[in-house]
Amino acid sequence: MPPTHNYSLLGPTSDSNFLRKITRKWIIVGVLTVFGLTFIIQSTTLRSGTSEPEALQTKLLRTGDWRQGGPEAWRNPSNSLKYPHPTIIGRENLLDESRYITSFPIAGYTNKFIAYMHLIYLGILSNRIPIIPPILPPGWVPIDAGIILFGDIYNLTTLRDRIRHPVLEWSDVKTIPTTADVQVDFTPTDPVEQLGCWSVRPRSADDPTWVRGAENVLKIDLSFTRVPSFSYFNQSDENEIFVTFPALASLVYAKHPHPSFHQGPLMRASRLGSELRPEEQLACFDFLYYASSGVQRYEFENRWSPAWNTVGTHLHFTQPLVDLTDGYLRRAMNIGEAEDLPPMITIHLRRNDFKDLCPEGKAPPCFIPLSKYQRAVTEIQEKLLETRGISVSRVLVTSDEKDLLFWEEISSFGWNFFNHTAERTVERFSKWHPLLIDKVALSQGIGFIGTNPSTFSVLNAFRVEDWNNGVTKMLRNDVD
Ligand SMILES: *[C@@H]1O[C@H](CO)[C@@H](O)[C@H](O)[C@H]1NC(C)=O
Ligand SMILES: *[C@@H]1O[C@H](CO)[C@@H](O)[C@H](O)[C@H]1NC(C)=O
Ligand SMILES: *[C@@H]1O[C@H](CO)[C@@H](O)[C@H](O)[C@H]1NC(C)=O
Repeated sequence: MPPTHNYSLLGPTSDSNFLRKITRKWIIVGVLTVFGLTFIIQSTTLRSGTSEPEALQTKLLRTGDWRQGGPEAWRNPSNSLKYPHPTIIGRENLLDESRYITSFPIAGYTNKFIAYMHLIYLGILSNRIPIIPPILPPGWVPIDAGIILFGDIYNLTTLRDRIRHPVLEWSDVKTIPTTADVQVDFTPTDPVEQLGCWSVRPRSADDPTWVRGAENVLKIDLSFTRVPSFSYFNQSDENEIFVTFPALASLVYAKHPHPSFHQGPLMRASRLGSELRPEEQLACFDFLYYASSGVQRYEFENRWSPAWNTVGTHLHFTQPLVDLTDGYLRRAMNIGEAEDLPPMITIHLRRNDFKDLCPEGKAPPCFIPLSKYQRAVTEIQEKLLETRGISVSRVLVTSDEKDLLFWEEISSFGWNFFNHTAERTVERFSKWHPLLIDKVALSQGIGFIGTNPSTFSVLNAFRVEDWNNGVTKMLRNDVD
């Protein structure tokens, strides 16, 4: 932030001059005092003044140079848009001088989270402003669960401050009714806008990723062009599903895209028959889950993942969700409002669809025995005591298991869990909330035990390590 930097450099210098000269002549003191006062007045006016620095920041933002500006340049969504409110046609809200990037969600919640984390990361790499869609059903929730804004789950103010980069949601850009439904197709009166998008599907696939639900909610009609061959992880494999971030960033780099940006045949016309090619102002990709730096596929499952460490770790949950979860934890553990919540070990114990993951020579169901989780709890307790001097007795379990006998066994260990039926979580909040509340609670452990190969578990382990300096362990059921 050069402006602030300049003033703080001047401030102390004038102070020390003032101290040295005080033993000399009064007249010099007088002159310097005037200077000092001028500096102070100047710096206060400039620091607290709104119009001048704000205009500068808006200019920097518009030229894509927001890192030169102050926090407002990236913190305030309306600085990246023409209007301080959403418009019916999103394009009308985009600033001519700015460059944007978007992409869409499919599959389970965690896949969507990863796709959005990748969208933000690619926005940073390509110097574009990411525009994030809401989280859409289905995927662990029924198709009629309704939409939920990404910024209602993750604190985007914190994210913007940490990455020093503007981040928008589609709901900042254009009007999206809270009742928008992925299943309701366009009607002739809908203000649908057309967009030319890139598809990152393997070259052996004829069609782009099916993102009709997102098109319905956002009222956008997408035509697709395949990304160039240099985008793929293995350029000589027609079935390659992974693309690489550096290649995509080069392809769409703001204002200076790769020459291939203007080439390549149409892959599929839009639902309404539009044949738009990808455009420069708003770069658009069908689905960014299968993206990596080019070192390893599924790199987001590794501690060294640049996308996790640049973006994912800064996606903290919003305060309202954390406060809500606090109440659930108190009721589950029987802790009064007046007491602090004790440190806990959290366990994500995924069962149902993992029963077929068997060690060699064994037939399903192959669940990890609960005794293995008990041993892991003891191990983590010992490690926490040894490394951090903290004695942890509380254990909170979340699981997709429905069998009451399973939960009785969990209770018999003295471990706690949420009962979303008794809490009436769905009725009181939404069909997303059992999952969201579990997610927030799991992230608050000082120790965590996950179930391999769940990506949900893997990412929670990163959160516990990054946010709480916690100890984590992943258990496998395909080995003994
Ligand atoms: C890339 O794909 C080609 C064609 O399938 C294959 O022969 C080659 O081994 C692959 N390269 C790597 C590094 O996996
Ligand atoms: C987001 O985090 C900031 C601090 O970084 C806090 O002031 C604000 O209340 C949070 N907002 C939400 C919605 O959680
Ligand atoms: C959760 O609460 C419901 C309703 O109170 C009850 O019927 C059910 O047995 C409870 N489930 C567990 C796992 O305790």
